[in-house]
Amino acid sequence: MKKIVRVGIFDSGVGGLTVLAECVRKLPDCLFYYMGDNLHAPYGSLPPDLIAHYVFAALRRFARLGTDAVILACNTATAACAERARAAFPFPVIGMEPAVRPAAEVCRHVLVLATPLTAGSDRLRALVGRFPQTDFTVCPLPGLAGAIERSLARGESLTISDHLPKGQYDGVVLGCTHYVFFRDEIARFYGCRTFDGGVGTANRLQSVLSHRFPSMDFGTDDHARPKQNPNICFNKKCKEMPKKGVFFLGKSRKINESVYHTNICFKNN
Ligand code: DGL
Repeated sequence: MKKIVRVGIFDSGVGGLTVLAECVRKLPDCLFYYMGDNLHAPYGSLPPDLIAHYVFAALRRFARLGTDAVILACNTATAACAERARAAFPFPVIGMEPAVRPAAEVCRHVLVLATPLTAGSDRLRALVGRFPQTDFTVCPLPGLAGAIERSLARGESLTISDHLPKGQYDGVVLGCTHYVFFRDEIARFYGCRTFDGGVGTANRLQSVLSHRFPSMDFGTDDHARPKQNPNICFNKKCKEMPKKGVFFLGKSRKINESVYHTNICFKNN
């Protein structure tokens, strides 16, 4: 019987759905489990050890589900504890980092928007330092991820421009997966292109799985329909299932409606 490759995707809430969407497109044969810790979101201003505690709880659940690889679809969780998670779990843990490299390749003046934890991390400082020819402005946004979470999952109103610093840039890095839901609005606000790590992370997953299972074929055409519906779970009930998240997951309405199938649950343990 053909092995089903299982992949866990974790975020503090809805943001990682943007990464799930890219992964489903890239690897339609895999079975995806998505967990959003919206009970504790936003993570951006929490202590790293507390974030690690929440992330490890989810990773233990993924371990019990027999996942073959896990993506931390959260820049903040990656900055807080990706190394520790890699050392503690038997499956590959793929982190998420702001798309600084692709921005540096084509832009001179780049704004990096991120949560306070990501913006202040040594990890981001080191990454930005690798591209001295580009002028980076790193801006922590303490309220935006939480506002997006409340807007998408609870229906609260949100004016994105209220959260954005003004300035002239030729590229904006979306250093938090929540921001990707609003990439068009952010691109319009700055009048330039945006960069995010969704596609790069899906490519990385493909490469990790190809190494792990050399006899399996993970090459796909990017438009194949998912063979398995992703299992999506939040630990606090969303008042409205994030509709914008659903639209990210497929091109046709038919796929969109079928992907929201919650059949796993996790508690904070
Ligand atoms: N989606 C997240 C990230 O990529 C987390 C945002 C938050 O919970 O503050 O950083």
